[in-house]
Amino acid sequence: MAKGIADKGKGAKSLTVKKKPMPKAVAGKTGMAAGAKKPAPSAKKSPPAAKKPAARKATAGTLRTSGAPSQAPAKPSRPAASPAGRKLKAGRANLGSRTPSKPLLRGELTTSLSIGQYYFRELLRPGENDLTILSPGRPRAIGDVIELTGRLLDEDGQPVNGALIEIWQANAYGRYRHPQESYDSPLDPNFQGFGRGLTDEAGRFRFVTIKPGPYPVPGAVDWWRPPHIHVLIMAAGLVRLATEMFFPNETLNRFDLILNGIPDPKDRRRLIAKQVAATPRAPAGATGFEFDIVLRGKAETPFMDKMA
Ligand SMILES: [Fe+2]
Repeated sequence: MAKGIADKGKGAKSLTVKKKPMPKAVAGKTGMAAGAKKPAPSAKKSPPAAKKPAARKATAGTLRTSGAPSQAPAKPSRPAASPAGRKLKAGRANLGSRTPSKPLLRGELTTSLSIGQYYFRELLRPGENDLTILSPGRPRAIGDVIELTGRLLDEDGQPVNGALIEIWQANAYGRYRHPQESYDSPLDPNFQGFGRGLTDEAGRFRFVTIKPGPYPVPGAVDWWRPPHIHVLIMAAGLVRLATEMFFPNETLNRFDLILNGIPDPKDRRRLIAKQVAATPRAPAGATGFEFDIVLRGKAETPFMDKMA
C-alpha cells in the first residue's frame, strides 16, 4: 500500500469511535465521505484507550471544536488539534501549530531601536552650517563663497527628515586644516574646513562655504584631486554613509581616479552638483550649487563606503 493511502487509513481508524454520522464539514477535512457506513479496514485495530466512552468523547470533541477542554481522564489518542491543525487531513502529523498562518506584523522603529536621530540635535551649535565665518565678528574666509543646498531622499523620493549632514573640505588653496596635511599651500586662519547641519521636513540641507581648491595626491604622479567636498550622512537606521560632491565644468574631473573609479557614467554624474541661483539668504556674490543625495534605489548616490 502506498504511504499516502496508509496515512488515510490511520486517520479513519480514530474517527470510527464515533457512532453518529460524521458531519459534512469534518468529513471534508478528513477526506472521508459523510455518512459512510463502513469503517476503514484498519478500524478493528483501535488502541484500547479508544474503547472507553470518555476517551471517545474527548477524541470526537477535539475534532469538532479544537481547544475545548476535555473532561476525559484518559489521554486522547493523539494531540489536540490547533486551529491550524484542523486544516490538516486526519492522520497527518500536526505541524500547523508551528507554522505562522498569518503574514508577519511589521512594526515601526522607535528611537530605542534605531541609530541616530536621538542626539543629532544636541551635537549642533548655531551657525555650524556656515563654514565661512568661524565666529561672529571674525573676517570671512578667503575664496569664492558658495551656497550648497540639496535634499536627502529615500528610494521612493521621499524626504529624510532630521538627518545629520557633515561636510569637510580643503580651503581655497587646496589645503586641509589637519595635522597630517602635507600639501605646502597657505592655511586660512578663518577657515577650519568642516561644518554640519540637519535636514528639515522636506529633507533639505544648506551650507555656506568656500569653493575648495585642487590639491596633489601625496605620493601619486600626475594626480590632482579636483575641487570637491566630502559629505557624511548620519540618519536614523544608518551607521553612516560617505560620498564626495564635485563641481561641474572642472577639467580635473576627467582625470580624477576616485570619480572615474565609478564605472557607470550615470552614477558619476550623480556626484556632480548643479549650478543654481543662490537663495536670498546667501551672502552677496555667492554662487549656488545643488546636490541631492538619494540613500537607496535606482537613483542611489554612489557612496564611498560601499565601494571600499
Ligand atoms: Fe579630499
